[in-house]
Amino acid sequence: MRFDVVSLFPEMFSALTEWGVTGRAYQRGLTSLRLWNPRDYAHDPRKTVDDRAYGGGPGMVMMAKPLEDTVEAIKAEHQSSGVQTGPICLLAPQGERFSQKIAKDILSYGNLTLICGRYEAVDQRFVDRTVDLQLSIGDFVVSGGELPAMTMMDAVIRLIPGVLGDEDSAAQDSFINGLLDHPHYTRPEIYAEIPVPDVLLGGHHAKIMDWRRQESLKLTSRLRPDLIEDARKNGLLSEEDERFLLLLLK
Ligand SMILES: C[S@@+](CC[C@H](N)C(=O)[O-])C[C@H]1O[C@@H](n2cnc3c(N)ncnc32)[C@H](O)[C@@H]1O
Repeated sequence: MRFDVVSLFPEMFSALTEWGVTGRAYQRGLTSLRLWNPRDYAHDPRKTVDDRAYGGGPGMVMMAKPLEDTVEAIKAEHQSSGVQTGPICLLAPQGERFSQKIAKDILSYGNLTLICGRYEAVDQRFVDRTVDLQLSIGDFVVSGGELPAMTMMDAVIRLIPGVLGDEDSAAQDSFINGLLDHPHYTRPEIYAEIPVPDVLLGGHHAKIMDWRRQESLKLTSRLRPDLIEDARKNGLLSEEDERFLLLLLK
């Protein structure tokens, strides 16, 4: 999986390439990242990439031309190195809400270009001419597209085969099987007078799996009943799951 990221603050991405699971994936060559600064494609000696908004109002707007030239340079590099250019994605509060499903789709593209906005907005003509999709990390505004981009990249990188060891496999994570993850416990066996549930101490693998599934179902039906409905529609609930959910209603 190769990411091309367009950002005025490329140094921020060391948070992703130098730390934890994503850092190890990057260092092992399981994912690659090429950073592009639109200032390098500005057309004046002052390297201007933003200007005041037509119609007035606060804040600056990112100019279309340096962004478009950056994307052209990305495509040219892809062509010369035999990379199939994937979608050009703008991080934007107006975009489709990012999800585990979208993370999986992105992984199947093999390449994604992420455009990190800054200031008040990006010139709409760049969006109309060059952007294939817009993604949001939620109904709130942050100061730039870098943190949203890193959040999405992390979610995608976790899904690359070999990135996670067996012990922390993504298959166990919330949303992967349509449900929220079950509770977890570690030592000590009793903490603040609260013991670890007996079943987890018994070493009986099948019973532990049943308990975890039921806890996932309980938590999901209490906190996110919408996910239970989706899981049902997508055929992710067994007859045993349905029997257990019925018991919860009593
Ligand atoms: C200060 S924000 C601009 C907000 C814009 N004026 C609005 O109200 O929709 C600057 C940049 O941060 C990024 N951004 C902010 N919130 C985001 C979100 N929820 N999801 C994805 N990107 C976001 C976008 O790239 C945006 O262009």
